[in-house]
Amino acid sequence: MKKIQISASILSCDFGNLAQEIKKSEAAGVGYFHLDIMDGHFVPNISFGPPIVKKVRTLAKINLDAHLMIDNPWLYIEDFAKAGADIITLHVESYDVKQHDVNTIKTTPRTATRIKREDLKRDIAKIRSLGKKVGLALNPGTSAVLLEDFLGEIDLVLVMSVNPGFSGQKFIESALPKIKQIRSKFKGLIKVDGGINAETAPKVIAAGADILVSASYLYGSKDYAAVVKELKGERP
Ligand code: DX5
Ligand code: ZN
Repeated sequence: MKKIQISASILSCDFGNLAQEIKKSEAAGVGYFHLDIMDGHFVPNISFGPPIVKKVRTLAKINLDAHLMIDNPWLYIEDFAKAGADIITLHVESYDVKQHDVNTIKTTPRTATRIKREDLKRDIAKIRSLGKKVGLALNPGTSAVLLEDFLGEIDLVLVMSVNPGFSGQKFIESALPKIKQIRSKFKGLIKVDGGINAETAPKVIAAGADILVSASYLYGSKDYAAVVKELKGERP
């Protein structure tokens, strides 16, 4: 059977006890830490930036994946690489050709239909040149077809199963056929982010996911190790 990994999104952990939370998560068998970077522009929320990533790097033993939910990501790739991210994931919607109306940030999730392909290629190459792994993320409203030309150049696809911005949202079912569609064409890692719990985890695994992100379900529980096992589909 394929090995499933859990990527713990620290967005829902107890930031007052970050060092302890990291230790506990690693002891529970988490495979990665997922760092949700939000700029209050690409998404309607603001989280944290490179200084926190740097701190997490000093505390964690496992790989860090930075999920950049930001506009103009090219301005910050180097900062996140230097801070210690091992995987840097860009949203294809950050490369959309159309100008985003800033007044709709809080009401309209980003989608992309046409992207600045050369800019995205340049940034994939930039991440590689910094010695990091490359991920591309897709919002629920963006078609997987947009990714097809890039699949040979990336390590990971991040399928969003909620509109990004907040943890604790409900899983969007249309992520499932999208995961299947990508799985049929992509040999790399497929990671699914948003609304993962005991009910949705088996469905995304069956659709072809390799890595499941968890924030609220994991950090809202008392027994991290039991949740990690449960989400991976292992018997406790
Ligand atoms: C959403 C973030 C997710 C989020 C997941 O914008 O990208 O990583 O923290 O939270 P849960 O697991 O609670 O849906
Ligand atoms: Zn995320």
